[in-house]
Amino acid sequence: MTDKTASGDVRLAGISKHYGSFTAVHPLDLTIPQGSFFALLGASGCGKTTTLRMIAGLEEPSTGTVSLGDREVTHLPPYKRPVNTVFQSYALFPHLSIYENIAFGLRRRGIKSVKKQVDDMLELVQLGQFAQRKPHQLSGGQQQRVAVARALINHPQVLLLDEPLGALDLKLRRQMQLELKRIQTEVGITFVHVTHDQEEAMTMADTVAVMNGGRVEQLGAPAELYENPRTTFVANFLGTSNLIEASVESAGTDVVVSASGTTLRLPGQRCSTTPRAGGKLLVGVRPEKISLVHADEEHTVAAGRNKIAGRIADSSFIGVSTQYVIDSRVCPELEVYAQNIERDARLVPGAEVVLHWNPEHTFGLDAAMDIDAGVETVEESA
Ligand SMILES: Nc1ncnc2c1ncn2[C@@H]1O[C@H](COP(=O)(O)OP(=O)(O)O)[C@@H](O)[C@H]1O
Ligand SMILES: [Mg+2]
Repeated sequence: MTDKTASGDVRLAGISKHYGSFTAVHPLDLTIPQGSFFALLGASGCGKTTTLRMIAGLEEPSTGTVSLGDREVTHLPPYKRPVNTVFQSYALFPHLSIYENIAFGLRRRGIKSVKKQVDDMLELVQLGQFAQRKPHQLSGGQQQRVAVARALINHPQVLLLDEPLGALDLKLRRQMQLELKRIQTEVGITFVHVTHDQEEAMTMADTVAVMNGGRVEQLGAPAELYENPRTTFVANFLGTSNLIEASVESAGTDVVVSASGTTLRLPGQRCSTTPRAGGKLLVGVRPEKISLVHADEEHTVAAGRNKIAGRIADSSFIGVSTQYVIDSRVCPELEVYAQNIERDARLVPGAEVVLHWNPEHTFGLDAAMDIDAGVETVEESA
């Protein structure tokens, strides 16, 4: 073979998994670069754990191969793969000290002098002062760090993490996200992290693969996925998108569309489908890209902005921002997030308003896709 993958890349080639007549993972090709922090993101049941287990060797693929660099490992048992897994249930040994929990992998391999390595790991996860405690004497986040240290001491090429922060409360989870990211940067080992939490995936990963129904819908850097979703599922699952059904008036470098008599523009290159005059397009814009003014101030809106007239249906003050729901002819419920800097007291439910945004911040999706795909799945837990 002539491909130039680095020796530690994880390569999945056409792997799929069937359970009877049910396909949990459709044939999947994926390369996870060595040293990257990679996230598999998707709602419960979309095939994340199955994919991870096939990498670990805990599940045999129905088709396809798993390779680490040039080495195919598809038929190797888990313990012969240079891979370790950290699960949501940390499964620490309750009767062993933290020190012995971390030393376990080394001792099992018959290594006698473990002190230096265990001390290094304790330092890496910042638990040195707890070495002699038992797991139940640590907090959830600390136990999770022990689980990570216990896996990393085996120097795996790849660390697989299956919803490892799922059992922690929100604040601790946010702390642990940063902590895991720091650890990954420090050790430079490939992390493949499974989560249903889009914020978690975006915070931690260099690359996120968004899974839906056993397929990867889109893969990319968090900002790229967020700014340029290519499917309605990704647009709705990753944050919130306003999607507007529109007819294409003209298509070129700039695309001009019409939605219930309102003209909107967007760059042709931001369309995931080729728009054709006379055809349909779903026009997308993120809530934070939109500005809101009272209808009386419409004259202050600069020329060239996309503009929609509407009425405030609902507003919620959430501290850093106020979230508005706007009814308009163009779209029933447009969401707008306005940073709380100077608030116009007239912007209350019932007020007539004008929404406006830079056409550059607009993206276009294939109108044949389900406009609500991915909307309800965000809050579902694993
Ligand atoms: N051993 C199994 N037998 C039958 N179906 C399974 C088995 N394991 C997983 N599944 C099904 O495969 C799908 C994907 O599961 P899983 O990979 O665990 O999803 P996720 O981790 O994304 O929540 C689910 O519909 C699940 O019910
Ligand atoms: Mg799972």
